Amino acid sequence: MDHFNYRHDELYAEEVPVADIIAQYGTPCYVYSRATIERHWRLIDEVCGKWPHRICYAVKANDNLAILDLLARLGSGFDIVSQGELERLLYIGVDPKRIVFSGVAKSESEINRALSVQIGCFNVESEAELMQIQQCAHKQNKVAPIALRINPNVDAKTHPYIATGLRDSKFGIEAAFAEKLYLQAKLLSHIEIKGIDCHIGSQLTSLEPFKQALNFVLDFVDKMKGLGIFFKHIDMGGGLGVPYHREDSLPTPADYTASLLELLKGRPLELILEPGRLIMANAGILLSRVEYIKSSSVKQFAIIDAGMNDLLRPALYQASHEIIEVKKRQGAAAQYEVVGPVCESSDRFGEYSLGIQSGDYLAIRTAGAYGASMASRYNARRRACEVMVEGGTMHLIRERETWEDLFSHEHRINPS
Ligand code: LLP
Repeated sequence: MDHFNYRHDELYAEEVPVADIIAQYGTPCYVYSRATIERHWRLIDEVCGKWPHRICYAVKANDNLAILDLLARLGSGFDIVSQGELERLLYIGVDPKRIVFSGVAKSESEINRALSVQIGCFNVESEAELMQIQQCAHKQNKVAPIALRINPNVDAKTHPYIATGLRDSKFGIEAAFAEKLYLQAKLLSHIEIKGIDCHIGSQLTSLEPFKQALNFVLDFVDKMKGLGIFFKHIDMGGGLGVPYHREDSLPTPADYTASLLELLKGRPLELILEPGRLIMANAGILLSRVEYIKSSSVKQFAIIDAGMNDLLRPALYQASHEIIEVKKRQGAAAQYEVVGPVCESSDRFGEYSLGIQSGDYLAIRTAGAYGASMASRYNARRRACEVMVEGGTMHLIRERETWEDLFSHEHRINPS
């Protein structure tokens, strides 16, 4: 459930007519609903019930400071994959103990920074990385908290670009290697084993792969116990999918956590979850103007002012987002191929039945996760502004870039 609904054929974001946001800030523009974000976070927290757990929001889904701040105030932890994400969190005063650091390529300087602020846990992806962390911790005279990310060789049955749990993936460590590596880690002077980590992919639409992965990890946990290695937490990553279209039927967060907790029963392990999409996707829409309607002998195009630089998902993963009119017109809808302005044929959102004329506005739904955070300036397009709605109030949480922003970090050589 979200807070983007029609009232008398006019789309509202919470209590604000979307048309008012457009009048004030123009398009393309991302709009988020505070109530929806909070509802999603609280729901995941609630369905974990009394089981010791920590929700570490995956910052990559949407890293706007206002959103991170909102989640921090709810008590969220965070999952990061770069120093940039860490700096964002430190900037708003998040306690580094609430942060887990994932990602296959943490550099020496990133590890040093994370250690110096006493990060909660490194999710380690290779032997080489473990040794790098040990070395950095030794130099800083600190003890680095770690978990190894296990690759359970499970098919997440999602788009191959966002599947991470199969053996041929660059992510995670195979169990046989991980077993040796934990034994090695136990002997390292500046490493403390905290837990075990696993993330098999994103936009999963069934629970089976999660259960398979958790069963695999739990067998591994039992085996390690026999070898004298004990874990405080088990981090099952993120990945539960969201409905991109109203008719999609997916497991609910309650089904998801119930199935995990059922398997965890009887084991004193804190559960860490790293949801990104689940919290943000349906909490955001992307507003866009229909610039032109163009007909060919085979189809009609609706050419809009948001493109693949603003929302890359359709071009990159053939993803389909529901698109709706900001103001519904009376009369028949027609079939359009909705396309963006970028000079690439992949800059298309798909086929939609819409009642529109040029100059009308559209809302691309479920755009709150991996929308703004994946935006680029391709075709020298400015990154869109972002607005957070809170009841009847709108807050500008990111300004639209200026033309100068486009080239402010560039230098000509020998300018005349
Ligand atoms: N934890 C780790 C280690 C991850 O790699 C990810 C996502 C998450 C958590 C959060 O997963 P979520 O709950 O959001 O599914 N750009 C793609 C998604 C890439 C996901 C990358 N990793 C998309 O737009 O579909």
